[in-house]
Amino acid sequence: MSVFRLTVRSVVREAEGVLGLLLADPSGADLAPWEPGAHLEVVLPSGTVRHYSLCGDPGDRGTYRLGVLREPAGRGGSEEVHASVGPGTVLGVRGPFNRFPLVPAERYLFVAGGIGITPLLPMLRSLPPDSWSLLYGGRSLASMAYREELTGLPGVTLVPQDTAGLLDLDAALGELPPSTAVYCCGPEGLLRAVEERWPGPLHTERFGAPPAAPPAAVPASDSGGGFEVELRRSGRTVRVEPGRSLLDAVREVVPGVAYSCEEGWCGTCETKVLAGTPEHHDSVLGEEERAAGASMMICVGRSRGPRLTLDL
Ligand code: FES
Repeated sequence: MSVFRLTVRSVVREAEGVLGLLLADPSGADLAPWEPGAHLEVVLPSGTVRHYSLCGDPGDRGTYRLGVLREPAGRGGSEEVHASVGPGTVLGVRGPFNRFPLVPAERYLFVAGGIGITPLLPMLRSLPPDSWSLLYGGRSLASMAYREELTGLPGVTLVPQDTAGLLDLDAALGELPPSTAVYCCGPEGLLRAVEERWPGPLHTERFGAPPAAPPAAVPASDSGGGFEVELRRSGRTVRVEPGRSLLDAVREVVPGVAYSCEEGWCGTCETKVLAGTPEHHDSVLGEEERAAGASMMICVGRSRGPRLTLDL
């Protein structure tokens, strides 16, 4: 999908450390439609690529709303947004993409940690008010974005850590009917805590790197670490030596190949596999997609055999 340009129409402070951006087409044209859970891939003025959930109203075709948390210990993308993006800034955008769709269910529990509230907002707004509840934790009330929009809605529990402690997940998950769809977005620790406690349908979105270990279902590589990769459309074959990433080798031939996190969780580098068996190490693909082997994240994936053919 190609990059298009959007202009920042306004920037507001949504909470301590959180900026709200409204993006619009410079010509005023309608924006592509999206559904709750979708995100945009944003190319910042420096060329850094980041992913932000759409947190506005899908019925508003004139603007996309994003919430960006400043993360001083992050890799620089959020700092750039906070320091240098303002009204009139032009941003490159791909998407919307949706890897976190809302599935039909009788009841929903949404669990948000900090800026993880952003994809959940449009979800709960799209549902009948008596079908969901939200547990929303943050460092302090002042740091919890969109709390004014949520205050007064039935089923919302705000839990600022400095006055109320951590989310009581045992209580929230302990008595749920097993058919409840649980959606969780936030830091890794919160996601893991929910995963450990909830055996029913669980839908999560990570904002950072998942646990370092590859999924247990993936057998060890048969390729001794090194393998060849044929880039069919480019008509070139390159060798991926042990210790070198497949993405690195691909970039030699296709310098403009799309990627972002380089850790296997954002989905940007997903590439079609034309032949060979990929060895997956990402947290994007589901079990069935892994087994099918039709695509892979080339930033962390490798080959199970001596040769892999990619649609690049
Ligand atoms: Fe993010 Fe590969 S670059 S999954």
